[in-house]
Amino acid sequence: MMEKKEVGEKAIEYVKDGMTVGLGTGSTVYYFISKLGELVQQGLSIKGVPTSKQTEKLAIEHGIPLVSFREIEQIDVAVDGADEVDLDLNLIKGGGGALLREKIIAKAAKTFIVVADSHKNVDTLGTFPLPIEVVPFGYRMTMKYIRELGGNPTLRQRRGTPFLTDNGNYIIDSSFQEINQPEVLEKNLNLLPGVVDNGLFVGMADAVITIVDNKLVTKARR
Ligand code: 5RP
Repeated sequence: MMEKKEVGEKAIEYVKDGMTVGLGTGSTVYYFISKLGELVQQGLSIKGVPTSKQTEKLAIEHGIPLVSFREIEQIDVAVDGADEVDLDLNLIKGGGGALLREKIIAKAAKTFIVVADSHKNVDTLGTFPLPIEVVPFGYRMTMKYIRELGGNPTLRQRRGTPFLTDNGNYIIDSSFQEINQPEVLEKNLNLLPGVVDNGLFVGMADAVITIVDNKLVTKARR
């Protein structure tokens, strides 16, 4: 918990007055959003673009003014969490089920900052089951295709029914053991009929704020 607070609050340094800010989803970025709310109360002028309904609610609770994605051309900085971060700053995201909007917003951002506690750091991606957003229609076929790519897919459930994303889709969680070529798997998964997008974020993070050997560090993209 303390690590999440430390890395989440550190990301505030990337926000400047007048910016449009992408607001990620999850328990780490929660601390970024709380801090941002405090600064807004003190006079900072920014506009937030939330990556999920959960974050939209949180931002409103913290008094952060929001802007609809439709009204803007680009985002200055987006801050989000991750489930795994590898040595090249490639990510697995989507543990909270918000990967599609998170990827759309990360891509639209001039600078994409990731906040991740020490447990998220790995040499090679793949231990955390990769979240894949699929349309409900024909999802069993989509699962079969994911299996053919070497995955071990399961349908995410909540209280006995399929988990629904903010976009009305399902999430398939699939471990792939070791993902040695994340850019290849990201593309191959997105070619499957029924797949909307997947939680591999390859070459997108500009910096990752994390904890290594109990120290706060910022790793920048090489
Ligand atoms: C949600 C995500 C989150 O960023 C990811 O799951 C990390 O969450 P947390 O900060 O709670 O550990 O991708 O879709």
